[in-house]
Amino acid sequence: MTNEWWRSAVIYQVYPRSFADASGDGVGDLAGIASRLEHVRSLGADVVWLSPFMTSPQKDAGYDVSDYRDVDPLFGTLGDFDALVARAHELGLRVIVDLVPNHSSDQHPWFQEALAADPGSAARDRYIFREGHGDRPPNNWQSVFGGPAWTRVADGQWYLHLFDASQPDFDWSNDEVRQDFRDTLRFWLDRGADGFRVDVAHGLVKADGLPDYTPPENADSMGGAEPVPYWGQDGVHDVYRDWHAVLAEYEGDRVLCAEAWMPTVEEIAKWVRPDEMHQAFNFAYLTSDWNAAELRGIIDDSLAAFGRVGAPSTWVLSNHDVIRHATRLALGDESPQGHGIGPGSKGIPDTAFALRRGRAATALMLALPGSAYLYQGEELGLPEAVDIPDDARQDPTWFRTGGERYGRDGCRVPLPWEADAPAYGFSTTGRTWLPQPESWGSYARDAQAGVAGSTLELYRTLLRLRRERALGTGSLEWLDSPAGTLAFRNGDVTVMANLADAPVPLPEGEILAASAEVTGRELPADTAVWLAARA
Ligand code: NOJ
Repeated sequence: MTNEWWRSAVIYQVYPRSFADASGDGVGDLAGIASRLEHVRSLGADVVWLSPFMTSPQKDAGYDVSDYRDVDPLFGTLGDFDALVARAHELGLRVIVDLVPNHSSDQHPWFQEALAADPGSAARDRYIFREGHGDRPPNNWQSVFGGPAWTRVADGQWYLHLFDASQPDFDWSNDEVRQDFRDTLRFWLDRGADGFRVDVAHGLVKADGLPDYTPPENADSMGGAEPVPYWGQDGVHDVYRDWHAVLAEYEGDRVLCAEAWMPTVEEIAKWVRPDEMHQAFNFAYLTSDWNAAELRGIIDDSLAAFGRVGAPSTWVLSNHDVIRHATRLALGDESPQGHGIGPGSKGIPDTAFALRRGRAATALMLALPGSAYLYQGEELGLPEAVDIPDDARQDPTWFRTGGERYGRDGCRVPLPWEADAPAYGFSTTGRTWLPQPESWGSYARDAQAGVAGSTLELYRTLLRLRRERALGTGSLEWLDSPAGTLAFRNGDVTVMANLADAPVPLPEGEILAASAEVTGRELPADTAVWLAARA
């Protein structure tokens, strides 16, 4: 096993719209990120992953790109990007850029050209245009955001969009598309990017003939156990073999990380075979309930499946598409990925109880060997923002489902930095593109820094110990423990998490870190501890 940095890195996701706003327009920007990078460094993360900041009409918060090789003026300039990379590297942080290859914006010059061109023209071949069946679209596919995945153009043809109508899917059998993305990779690599998080990495290639597909009832975006004709087709892997070769031309260990929402780790592991990508998000782990047996099974499967292909396992609990884990793990009702929660949802948990669980889950995750992903604001213990007024919502999911699904705005609210500043220090003017809940002053970074027991200090302690004790490159050995708990050893640390609802006896050993107060030799419910293991 080699020791490239990404095998054990802690990667901190920055969502540029909501991290820090230097311009004061209410939307975060690259200069804002650069000014707050020390926070990420002092937290103890190794890498920042920047969600998209390329030129975009922002119909899907930047995941609708109209120029892959420039910065949207909302976020700054290419000069700001260069300055951010320079600052990050100076601080010893690496930078991963988000790349969106499945679809472009409908404002991309190629799509505009396609609309102006005739059916059957070369310009249309870069996207997926088809004839329909009379007034019906070419097949029955539904958009991940709700509604049909096809939109009709003036001359009667339809184009495919697995997401919003403003996000037409590329045709990846087209050589021009393939070449253009190679150029885009080189563009950001030349500017110092350390790698890419690849959006919808399971979607680029569609099954021949575009056959109908009906997902099982209540399925999330992954569909069911049956193969889905637009996810995980064999041909996608050729694209990443090609990209692997492009990255290998560059110095340093540059990485590709797959966002491949496939239902099992065995399937996800296909993206990280030796000549493909380097990492893939572990969505089986992210979607697990707070349940000891289920989590143990996923951890075992992950270490085995990724291990078999020589890749590190990754771990993740939150990102900009899911309900924040400091709420989600205590939710009472079913909330499929991307559906979100809002004022009308049932089973919204008590905030303190849910945070307790969220902290325990983090303490468990950060002790696991491999690479871990953090999402901005989880280190502050932020809950999902539930009470966003309808007229402030921005997620296309909300609009495409006529308000039936709340979507993802609740995990994207701008960060609170200073309890007493306008917009809690997010922007100097007090403007924010989504409203911040009134209670968020208590989560502000300055209200937690240096405060024993705060969530921020818990994350810092865990990340420091993880580094000092090399847990990321360690290995896991399960220990016997009571039902409803998990206990394992990684190097010289013993970890125990109590996912049951009653206290259990605590193993021997000095407590190095605890997700909640532990008195005596009992581990309370919804708590995880790290103990010094005996040699
Ligand atoms: C996955 C991204 O994480 C999500 O935010 C986006 O809406 C879709 N892909 C479409 O690009």
